Amino acid sequence: MRTRIVSIHDIDEIVEALRQDQLVALPTETVYGLAARAGSRSAVERIFAVKRRPADNPLIVHVASAEEAFALASHVPGYAERLAERFWPGPLTLVLPSAVDWPWVQAGHPTIALRVPEPGYLREVLRQVGPLAAPSANLSGRPSPTTAEHCRADLEGAVPLIVDGGACRRGVESTVVDCTGAAPSILRPGPVTAEMIGSAGSEVGAPGSAASPGTRHPHYRPRARVVLVDGPSDVDPDGEAAMVISARDAGSAATPGDAPADVSGAPRIVHRVFDSPEELARSLYAWFREADDLGLSTVFVQRVPERGIGAAVMNRLRKAARAGEGD
Ligand code: TXA
Ligand code: MG
Repeated sequence: MRTRIVSIHDIDEIVEALRQDQLVALPTETVYGLAARAGSRSAVERIFAVKRRPADNPLIVHVASAEEAFALASHVPGYAERLAERFWPGPLTLVLPSAVDWPWVQAGHPTIALRVPEPGYLREVLRQVGPLAAPSANLSGRPSPTTAEHCRADLEGAVPLIVDGGACRRGVESTVVDCTGAAPSILRPGPVTAEMIGSAGSEVGAPGSAASPGTRHPHYRPRARVVLVDGPSDVDPDGEAAMVISARDAGSAATPGDAPADVSGAPRIVHRVFDSPEELARSLYAWFREADDLGLSTVFVQRVPERGIGAAVMNRLRKAARAGEGD
């Protein structure tokens, strides 16, 4: 199959492909998604096949508005309405009891995960096509794609259309919130933080029984080993080529620069520096992929405080760091 690359301005082409039940990789504000019409069983089954996604992991359904979202739910608690009002369009996914029977999307669960994404072009597509099921557009187990290049690396030849909208503004996946209980509970931390949910008038409940099915599966990992460190001085590459991702103000003795290809046989260390936890969130998956492309053995990442977006970043980093231990 030939894969064509179009831009976010090619609305007609994107709409036409989706109406024909083709798969389209497209940018959201979080990560790139691999989209198909949610009501089309055959198209959604192709998403699972192309990604090699475990069949028991349900998909998020993207819609143009809160009104459309809540039409797909059989019961919407008041706190979920308030969260939608405050954070949609945006990087928040609400899990609600489903009013539709789409087992191919829900993977057998009685609930449905719903989100109104931020980009205007995408909401226009959703207005024209209707609800779209879209997981992240990576092969299962690979880091989520945050550029069209990442989508090509994983899906070239397997999907007919990739929409290039540049790098995603957020870089980590949406916050997934279980809205089936008396209070919201966070199944997957993301850009909408527990503090933000609290400030919208909702006390965040203890993790409920409806644990996110996806959290059981290995996630977010590069091929390289991921090691968390408190600072550059803790880095011990042990003779192997490595990437060191650290805060600019981390206080290393020398300003990090990429060591040139070394004639003495010393291991190559590639440095990547972030100025804020937001920048780490935006760049993390791209750096993971770069480390793999460079054939590096280990990625050392400096921990960030578990506040704001830092909670989501540390969640992904811990999963990546555990991945080698048969998680
Ligand atoms: O930012 C995002 O959420 C991106 C963009 C493309 O929207 N999508 C994304 O999808 O990250 P995916 O499939 O990679 O992750 C969806 C997560 C999984 O952990 C899945 O288990 C959970 O949402 N999920 C989906 N439906 C659910 C449900 N009914 N109950 C509980 N968790 C659900
Ligand atoms: Mg994913």
